[in-house]
Formats: sequence, structure tokens, C-alpha cells
Amino acid sequence: MILVAGSANLDFVIQVQHIPAPGETVLGRDLAFFPGGKGANQAIACARAGGATTEMLLALGDDWFADPIEDSLSEAGVWMHRVIMPKSRTGAAFISVSDDGENAITVAPGANSGLSADDLPELGGFSHLLLQLETPLDVVTEYARVAHEQGIKVVLNAAPAQSLPAELLAVIDILIVNEGELALVADHDGNVASCLGRVEIPCVVTTLGSRGCCARNGDEIIVQPGFEVQAVDTTAAGDTFCGVLVAALHQKQSLETALHRANAAGALACTRLGAQTSIPSCGEVDLLLKDTAAEDSSRREALSKYCGFQAQDRSGD
Ligand code: RIB
Repeated sequence: MILVAGSANLDFVIQVQHIPAPGETVLGRDLAFFPGGKGANQAIACARAGGATTEMLLALGDDWFADPIEDSLSEAGVWMHRVIMPKSRTGAAFISVSDDGENAITVAPGANSGLSADDLPELGGFSHLLLQLETPLDVVTEYARVAHEQGIKVVLNAAPAQSLPAELLAVIDILIVNEGELALVADHDGNVASCLGRVEIPCVVTTLGSRGCCARNGDEIIVQPGFEVQAVDTTAAGDTFCGVLVAALHQKQSLETALHRANAAGALACTRLGAQTSIPSCGEVDLLLKDTAAEDSSRREALSKYCGFQAQDRSGD
């Protein structure tokens, strides 16, 4: 079983020609609502990946924003440990999505801020705890500490970006970050390879947008190019990657295979609008993997070079 502990938001999404610059007003298209939040998105990605019973600890307000989030989680088969915060709003995110699929997100955490150390359920039977940083950092640290003490694998997606306290770094088994988050955690502005070398966590996975991803697992380096898709909305692509990766690891797949599936699922999530609405099923991921079975070694070479790895550093070929 996998436990995801984290945020749930209602996403208010407007498609626009371009993301407004500071001080600029742009006219967008219709307003749309989607269930979102990094925690809930990752729980749904885990559940849709199949093969892993997924539960989620989340805090919701006593307002209608909570309804579509609960519906979406239960439709995906995620069992919820709900904390209802009276007189609080459920978390909300305001998202502009540009015509080239990029986004800008502002989150009002609302009830997510109310999650406390005491809310963690009994951890018996869980193999992995998946965390993000849209809930209070001291609470995330405490959840990670308790899980680590009980021999549960702790996976942290350090998003939104912030530097991490030593107590948290000490109990993480797998860190998942994008390039900006990696630089912040590593406290270094060099290339991916040099940042990876500075983070003292057993396994660090870095997502690199449409380029793909790479990982340092102990001394082993794995580099995997991305899948080419027509991007409509990149929202929740990273969350999909995290959920699918953990579901695959739970099923004892190798890190290399798990990264490949997560990469494919993240790419598919970019092809549809919305957060949880865009997360693919296991079957859709299988189909993409089947259609793109042939590896292009020149793309792997190019990605290795981009990351700053020497030829002898690479493995997973
Ligand atoms: O990662 C995407 C998510 O970030 C959105 O669903 C939004 O709610 C914010 O949490």
C-alpha cells in the first residue's frame, strides 16, 4: 500500500494566448474548474497506475470546493483519511495555461495549512509514503521521520521549491525534483550532474520537462529522454511522474523501468487540459510505450551532455 500525504486544491484555470507578465492584463478564454493539488494529483496517478492500493491523508475546508476533489479521488479508487477544517476554505489554485501548454500557478493553501503531525494515520502495511511541500514543512518533516523510523520508504517531491532542513534530508529515501528545485536543494547553480552530486540522499530523481529525466541512485546514473507529444497543458505532468514512479517501485520494478513508465505517463498528462483530468490510465501508458519501443540513442547522448555527465557515468543503456 502507498500513502500520499499532502495537498488538495480546486484549480481555477484560464487558457490564455500568453502568460501575463508582472503588471500586464490579458484576456483569456472561459474559466474552468478542475480538481487538483500536488498531493491529490499524485495519489490519483498512483491509483491509475494500477497494482498499488493508494490512500491519501488530506485536509479540506467545509465548502463546495471540496466536493469535486473528493469525487475525483474516490472515482480513482483512492481511500481518503480526511481532516475537515471548520471555517476554512479548501485549497485553491489559480492557473493560467498558455497556448503553448506552459502554465503559471498561484496557490491559496487554505485548509492544507491546517494538516498537523497528529493527523498521520497508523502506518502498518504501507510500503511507501509520498510527500510534497504544499503542506507545512514541519509537519512534512514529522511524517517523514515517523515513516522512516518504521522502515517505510519516504519519497519527497520537493515542490513548490524550497530549501530543506537537515532533519528532513536525513530521512528521505527518494527525492524527486525539477531542475530549479534541485538547484535550491543542492544550494548550487551548476549543471544537473554537479547538483546531483551535492545532495546527500540515496536516490535523487530529476525531471527535465520535455527533455526527459535523470536519476542518481547511489553511484549509478540513469538518463532517459522524454516522449514527444503535442503539449496542451503541462499542469500535473510532474505529479503524474511522481505517482506513477512510486506505484512502479511499489511493484518492485527496477528504477530504470519505473522511470521509463513515469516519463511516458508525465508526457501523456501534457496532452490534456486540467490536473487530475489529464492523468493517464495504466493502459494508456502501456500503449505509448508499445508505440515508441525503439530507443533513439542519440537523444540519450544529447540529454547526458545537457546534464553534464561524462560518457562513462551513464548506465541504464
Ligand atoms: O502540480 C500542479 C498542481 O499545483 C495543481 O493542480 C495546483 O493545484 C497546484 O497545487
